[in-house]
Amino acid sequence: MITNPQSGTTIDEIADGIYRISTPVPPTVMPGGFSFNQYLIADAAPTIFHAGPRRMFPLVREAINTVLPAERLRYISFSHVEADECGGLNDFLAIAPEAVPLCSRVAAQVSINDMASRPARAMADGEALSIGSRELEWIDAPHLPHNWETGYLFDRHTRTFFCGDLFTQGGHQTPALTAGDILGSSEAFRAGSSAVMGDYVSGSRNSRKIFDRMIALAPLTLACMHGSAWHDGTPTGAGALLIALADKISA
Ligand SMILES: [Fe+2]
Ligand SMILES: [Fe+2]
Repeated sequence: MITNPQSGTTIDEIADGIYRISTPVPPTVMPGGFSFNQYLIADAAPTIFHAGPRRMFPLVREAINTVLPAERLRYISFSHVEADECGGLNDFLAIAPEAVPLCSRVAAQVSINDMASRPARAMADGEALSIGSRELEWIDAPHLPHNWETGYLFDRHTRTFFCGDLFTQGGHQTPALTAGDILGSSEAFRAGSSAVMGDYVSGSRNSRKIFDRMIALAPLTLACMHGSAWHDGTPTGAGALLIALADKISA
């Protein structure tokens, strides 16, 4: 569903109670086109994974409001400290009085407890947080694909893995959910962007171990931050994709 005709921002439910908000960046602005996604987890303590860039805050807020009042948000969660992950954080904290940042302990200590207008709820690796009818698990993933403080969320109820910048796909008109080859398109995007900006994958020597943890979660859906979310209806498809990505990028 389109929530803003000017920007082309959309919101779509991709798993039970999980909504992908996506704003396209046309090829005239970024060669090949691109997209910025945030995910709303609608539960008793509504949570978003990624606040979006600060300049997109009005668009993300508008999209959330089609499901629940953005003022009710309780957790503003994000993978790492970059503008597209948490640029809109303080804007959300300003409109949602109960909201706090939700991030890794490193992110809280190194950046967020200074940069954010309220202290973070810092998550330890493997820690679970109840947000009502479901639990969210935090997975530390330092330097995968980049940034020391990086981590991810896993919704144990729908087995959705919020995988942030992993499987970053180019293009500005990607479907909300696909069973297609997101590894092929993300590796093609990585090759193209590497030539211009350098590789966004840092190549940590611990990445294989971190991938093994992700695979052990047995996710069903991959909620990507750029491009389509992925789901093929099989219990092992997402794990196979993670194994294939690990083979591509692990040191
Ligand atoms: Fe990033
Ligand atoms: Fe990102």
